[in-house]
Amino acid sequence: MAIERTLSILKPDALEKGAIGKIIARFEAAGLKPVAIRLQHLSQAEAEGFYAVHKERGFFKDLVKFMTSGPVVIQVLEGENAVLKNRDLMGATDPKKATPGTIRADFATSIDANTVHGSDSLENAKNEISYFFRQTELTHYEWKK
Ligand code: CMP
Repeated sequence: MAIERTLSILKPDALEKGAIGKIIARFEAAGLKPVAIRLQHLSQAEAEGFYAVHKERGFFKDLVKFMTSGPVVIQVLEGENAVLKNRDLMGATDPKKATPGTIRADFATSIDANTVHGSDSLENAKNEISYFFRQTELTHYEWKK
């Protein structure tokens, strides 16, 4: 299986609940390593730019308001099949529909305050990673064959 990178954001509700350690532990336990990690309070322009694909959607304004309501943790995760693995760990976008045991089922309270974001494809992962991180900020691991 291929080693991939994906972008992961722990949203303001994750920090508000004091849950970032517990959430990051799940990624580590699943074999996803952080190759870059940063705490940041997004500006309105940064949040709007990141979620630009959703700008025509009815939920865009609320999404940007929530994502700028407090600091977030932005990280790049690396590992086998990282894009899909991260999405499996997160669970469905709407926590009411998320499988028990997933991050959103266990921590999220609503579709807006849904605790985590993860890239939905390898192509989007590349774009999302470069939106937040320069090449020189990404660590390189030696993966055992
Ligand atoms: P995220 O994975 O960060 O990507 C876009 C976000 O928009 C999503 O998680 C949700 O938090 C939020 N959102 C709010 N309403 C909807 C909706 N109806 N469909 C998809 N995403 C939504």
